[in-house]
Amino acid sequence: MLTGSIKKVCCIGAGYVGGPSMAVFADNCKNIQFTVVDINKDRISAWNDDDFKKLPIFEPGLDQIIARTRGKNLFFSTEIKKSISEADMIFLSVNTPIKISGLGAGKASDLKFIEASARLVAEEARGFTIVVEKSTLPVKTAETIKSILFSSQTIKNDIQIDRKFSVLSNPEFLAEGTAINDLENPDRVLIGGDDDDSIEALSSIYENWIQKDKIIKTNLWSSELSKLAANAFLAQRISSINSMSAFCEVTGANINEVSNAIGTDSRIGSKFLSSGPGFGGSCFKKDILNLVYLCSFYGLDEVSNYWEQVILLNDWQQKRISHLIIQNLFGTLAEKKIGILGFSFKANTNDTRQSPAIKICKDLLEEGAELSIYDPKVSMETINLELTNTSISQDESKFSNEKITVCESIDEVAVNADAIVLITDWPLFKNINWDTISKLMRKPSWVFDTRNCIDDVQCLKANINVWKLGVGILR
Ligand code: UDX
Ligand code: UDX
Repeated sequence: MLTGSIKKVCCIGAGYVGGPSMAVFADNCKNIQFTVVDINKDRISAWNDDDFKKLPIFEPGLDQIIARTRGKNLFFSTEIKKSISEADMIFLSVNTPIKISGLGAGKASDLKFIEASARLVAEEARGFTIVVEKSTLPVKTAETIKSILFSSQTIKNDIQIDRKFSVLSNPEFLAEGTAINDLENPDRVLIGGDDDDSIEALSSIYENWIQKDKIIKTNLWSSELSKLAANAFLAQRISSINSMSAFCEVTGANINEVSNAIGTDSRIGSKFLSSGPGFGGSCFKKDILNLVYLCSFYGLDEVSNYWEQVILLNDWQQKRISHLIIQNLFGTLAEKKIGILGFSFKANTNDTRQSPAIKICKDLLEEGAELSIYDPKVSMETINLELTNTSISQDESKFSNEKITVCESIDEVAVNADAIVLITDWPLFKNINWDTISKLMRKPSWVFDTRNCIDDVQCLKANINVWKLGVGILR
C-alpha cells in the first residue's frame, strides 16, 4: 500500500455522520470512489432521490455537494457485501446506542452493530483493507474489531483468500447544523493507529483539502478516548453555564452578561457558553454515560461520579423549566393550551434525538396541557413518534393524540394559547411580531424563552408576560 493507493472507499452507515462525511470526502477527492452502504433500504432510496428536499438528513449546503458528486464518485447502495469486497478502506459509521438491557444497561454503548459490521468485513473483504472507526466508540473497541478481523478465515472451500487488515480510529467531530463547514474546515483531524503506512494512507486523503499540521496522529486508545473526552468537556461547559442560569434567576444577575464577562477571559473562551434547556443530540448524553460506565468499570468511582453530575444537571435543567411554566400558570395546566416553538435538539437540523423538547413536552402533557407544536424542519410524524412512541401517519395524528397538534406556522401555534415556550433557537423565532401573536393568544399570556433569543421589549409592549432563562420574569 500505500499513500495515494486508495481507490475505493466504502462507508457502512448512511446516517448523520456517514452521509455528510462521505459527501465532503467525495467532493474533495475526485480520484477516489466512495460508496455509502446501509441496511436500511428506505434511507438509501432517500439518499438517491432526485428531489433534494427528500434527502434523509437536512444539513445546510449538503444538497449542493450531493448534486455535484452523486453518481460521479459518490454512490449510495444497499449492496453491502459487494462494496466491502471492492474497498481498500472501510469506514464504520453505524450507530452505537446505549444498551437497554443486560450488563451495563442504561450506560454502556451497545456495540452489536459495530460487531456485526466487523464480522461482515472479516468475511467479505479482499486484499489489504484499512478499517476505520468513524462512530464514537468506547475506549478499547478497536481491540474487539481487531480480534474479529484478525481471526477471519483465510482458507475457504480449500481456496486461499488473500485478506489482511489494519485498524484505525478517526473520530468525527462535526456538529449537526454546521456539518459541512465542520467537515470542510475542521479544527483538527484525529487519526489513531499502530500502523504508520495506514495512518499515512488516511492522512493523504484528508490532505487533499486540509492542512497537514491540522492532522493529529496518536495511538488508537488516545484517539478513541479523545473523542469521548471532547464531548464530555463540551457538555460539561453547558451544564456549568446552565447551573449559573438558575443562580442568576434567584440573584438578579443576567446570564448573558455573566456569560459575556467570563467568556472574554481568553483562558475560558466565549464558545459553548449559551445557557438553554439543556443539551440534546445523539452524542453528549450517550458518550458521557459511556465514560461514567467505563470509569466505574475500572474502579474510578470518583471520576465516574464527577462526570455523571453533568448529566444530572442537564436533566434537572429541563425539569425546572417545566416546573416554572406550571407554577406561573397558576399551578395547573388543565384546560390550558401551550404553544411550543422548536422541536429539534438545536437549530438547523431535523434531528430530534435527545431533544430537550421531548422531556419538556412530556412534562407539560402530564400536567394536562394541550400542546400546539411548530418546528420548521421536524415532521409531524417524528414529533408524534417522539411524544407518543407510536408511528402515526399525518392524517391520523390529530385524532390519535388529541392533546398534541403539530402546526405549520407560528401564528397557528399562538391561537388561543395561554403560553408559548421557545425551545429551539431557529433564526425565524428571533424576528417574531409579538403584536400579532399577542392578539391571537388567551389572556393573561406568557412567553417562556429558554434560549434567550426573543425580542423581549416588543413582547412586553404587546402585553405578554415574559420569563427568560437565566434572567427570570421581566418587569
Ligand atoms: C453516528 C455514530 O456512528 C455514532 O457512534 C455517534 O455517536 C453518533 O453519530 P449517526 O450517523 O448519527 O451515528 O447514526 P444514524 O443516523 O443512526 O446512522 C447510522 C446508520 O447505520 C443507520 O442508517 C443504520 O441503518 C445503519 N446501520 C446500522 C447499518 O447500515 N448496518 C448496521 O448493522 C447497523
Ligand atoms: C456534538 C459535538 O459538538 C460534536 O463535536 C460531536 O461530533 C457530536 O456532538 P451536536 O450534538 O451535533 O455535536 O451539536 P452541538 O452544537 O454540540 O450541540 C449539542 C447540544 O448542546 C444542543 O442541544 C445545543 O443546543 C446545546 N448547546 C450548545 C447549548 O445549550 N449551549 C451551547 O453554548 C452550545
